[in-house]
Amino acid sequence: MNTKANFKGEIIYIEKIAKDTCKMDISSPLKQANAGQFISIYCPNTTLRRPFSIANFENHIITILFKLKGEGTKYLSNLKKGDYIDFLAPLGNGFTIENKKSLLVGAGIGIAPMIFLKNTLNKKNIENYLITGFKSNEENIKGSDETIIGGSVLYHLDKIIKNKNIEIIYSCGPMPVLKGITELSKKYNIPSQIAMEKVMACSIGVCRGCIIKLMKNGKVINASVCKDGPVFKGSDIIWD
Ligand SMILES: Cc1cc2nc3c(=O)[nH]c(=O)nc-3n(C[C@H](O)[C@H](O)[C@H](O)COP(=O)(O)OP(=O)(O)OC[C@H]3O[C@@H](n4cnc5c(N)ncnc54)[C@H](O)[C@@H]3O)c2cc1C
Ligand code: FES
Repeated sequence: MNTKANFKGEIIYIEKIAKDTCKMDISSPLKQANAGQFISIYCPNTTLRRPFSIANFENHIITILFKLKGEGTKYLSNLKKGDYIDFLAPLGNGFTIENKKSLLVGAGIGIAPMIFLKNTLNKKNIENYLITGFKSNEENIKGSDETIIGGSVLYHLDKIIKNKNIEIIYSCGPMPVLKGITELSKKYNIPSQIAMEKVMACSIGVCRGCIIKLMKNGKVINASVCKDGPVFKGSDIIWD
């Protein structure tokens, strides 16, 4: 089990890779991280840390992909190679890898944890297919097996599930896509694992600001996205 800790990491790579989107590689003493986990970065110009999925982890190097939204991501986008950042890691529970033909669905910046997951599945020789969707070609982040520009990825999944005999779906992206994935997994009777995103204050399970509702053994329970998630079984999630 990883123990979460506070790290100082050196930025060894930072580039714009798509419209309003940057890739950052951070070298730090962090020893281990799993696909689906995230880091929470201190940005001096914001009160609260900002959470980002780990988009890859290899030889102590964490990769993140981030989309410019507000002050925190603006600060990060202005950092340079050689600068240091302060972050908490590894946070949350990642995907539970199953030896099943896997469909990975990343919508928008939701591609970030899917890239790490794909790399992990490839290393284990588990057959997988990553489909991503972006609003425009300028926002396209490369690295998937199929990319949908302009429309919802959801409309393309029935065909893939049937043609590739998919046995499990993993996904990250906006709520309507995630909800659609859980409906599809129900329709085809295959499990799904969903990486949820919620605006976070503490990122470590203290403030209870990121609560969602789950159905477990016939009972409704509260779960924090930052500590109990961000990955949940699709069939457990109660969508508001
Ligand atoms: C577990 C987790 C993993 C994430 N992984 C990534 C990632 O890999 N790449 C990435 O670009 N972003 C990711 N995010 C979202 C990212 O944390 C926010 O975009 C970031 O905190 C915005 O900070 P800001 O100061 O630039 O903008 P802010 O000023 O904080 O926000 C700008 C706007 O974005 C909205 N917003 C902020 N956070 C979220 C959120 N979590 N969900 C929906 N809307 C939000 C705000 O309501 C506001 O309207 C992740 C969030 C979570 C919870
Ligand atoms: S963000 Fe504070 S409990 Fe999750």
